[in-house]
Amino acid sequence: MEIKMIITSITHIIEGKLLTETHITVNGWVKTKRTSKIGIIFISMNDGSCLENLQIIIKKNVYNNKNYISKLTTGCSIKVKGLIKYSPTTKQKYEIHATNITILGWVKDPSSYPISPKKHSMEYLRKIAHLRPRTNIIGAITRIRHKIIYKIHKFLNNHGFYWIPTPIITTTDTEGNGKMFRVSTLNKNHLLSSQNKKDFFKKDFFKKETFLTVSGQLNAESYSCALSRIYAFGPTFRAENSNTKKHLAEFWMLEPEIAFAKLNDIIKLAIDMLIYITKSLLDERDKDLFFFEKKKIKNKIKLNKLISSNFEQIDYKEAIKILKKSKINFKLPVHWGIDMSTEHEKYLTEKYFKTPIIITNYPKKIKPFYMRLNKDNKTVSSMDILMPGIGEIIGGSEREERIKILDKRIKESKLNKKKYWWYRDLRIYGTIPHAGFGMGIERLISFITGVTNIKDIVPFPRTPKNANF
Ligand code: 4AD
Ligand code: MG
Repeated sequence: MEIKMIITSITHIIEGKLLTETHITVNGWVKTKRTSKIGIIFISMNDGSCLENLQIIIKKNVYNNKNYISKLTTGCSIKVKGLIKYSPTTKQKYEIHATNITILGWVKDPSSYPISPKKHSMEYLRKIAHLRPRTNIIGAITRIRHKIIYKIHKFLNNHGFYWIPTPIITTTDTEGNGKMFRVSTLNKNHLLSSQNKKDFFKKDFFKKETFLTVSGQLNAESYSCALSRIYAFGPTFRAENSNTKKHLAEFWMLEPEIAFAKLNDIIKLAIDMLIYITKSLLDERDKDLFFFEKKKIKNKIKLNKLISSNFEQIDYKEAIKILKKSKINFKLPVHWGIDMSTEHEKYLTEKYFKTPIIITNYPKKIKPFYMRLNKDNKTVSSMDILMPGIGEIIGGSEREERIKILDKRIKESKLNKKKYWWYRDLRIYGTIPHAGFGMGIERLISFITGVTNIKDIVPFPRTPKNANF
């Protein structure tokens, strides 16, 4: 009788989705191999579908005339045909009794294989970013990222939001601070021959100066001023020369924007979403999360505490008072008006409150032009959510919907009003109160996993002086 084979992934077997005695084909990479005294080969293999490895038992009669099987080493890729059996040991529930092994790819010179089974430092793994997905830690981060993004779409869909693919190439500087990468097809000769800047860009692909976007917010606002609940979600770029553990030149941002909403509405949405994501991960990616705990890469607050905790909410003014009272000699001296830095955020989240905190109503001088001016004329209706360990993961605000005040803020911020003509139109034709926020996906993952360097969160990090792979 012909045996019907199916290709399956390791996670299906480990989770018991297939019956024992089922004939399967499973592919993957060898993690480790050992041969017992009586000549049985044990292979531990992984295909990245889950953290756990699958144990393959190869008896002598299977590899007898295929001696090369005993030469398999870590990193070789193989195709295994065999039967699912209950494992007699407590280490794993299921194992595969191989009926046939095909070697798909050998590892040339096993002694130089960069991902040997020993422990590697994160710095070392960054240098081999193309192979590091084969490690447990990068695998776990990858599966967690996928689940987070899937759950974000699901959460927002359940709350009536529509996703808007806002442009990546843009002419507008959303944050108004000039930290943008130029997009151009012009070459050096053009640059040398052009008389002035205006002429120069006339010859460029778009006939004007264009950049990679720092945020999809302004375009997102145009859609929220029509479809009410929408979100932008895509890559964003910052040409900041910040070489820190939490800055990337290219990162992914989620930006929900809600029509007719006030600051409290977006704060509630952000908290509900963070709790929903965390709950989903605890339910559905518990083994990957447990991996980080086992490795003592601990999140500064326990995730199950997060889902039941009240996020502390304070005014910027109060935060400054608390920092002053601490009597700590901060590098950046504390006074009303400062743009808080990591040392201040750390004190507030990790020492003083020991919870996530929401800081509201920042001084207008340290925030972008689009944030709604408060009655005091000094602060804007804004909020940042800070997490222990990583600091700011969310920044948002009510949007300035009053054209006169918006124009004043554009002027104060020394921006070119003409460039924002379409954004201003939204305030001229049926303006509405609205609000939104931006959340950095890598910072959220860093917080959830406790992996503190954002360069280990993103597959191929782009940072100052570094765009390898
Ligand atoms: O606070 P930011 O700059 O806000 C905006 O861009 C708004 N337009 C968002 C909005 O209201 N729609 O950035 C939002 C978030 C930060 O809280 C942080 O999590 C992340 O984006 N972020 C970065 N992540 C990694 N590397 C960087 N260089 C980042 N800059 C911001
Ligand atoms: Mg911010």
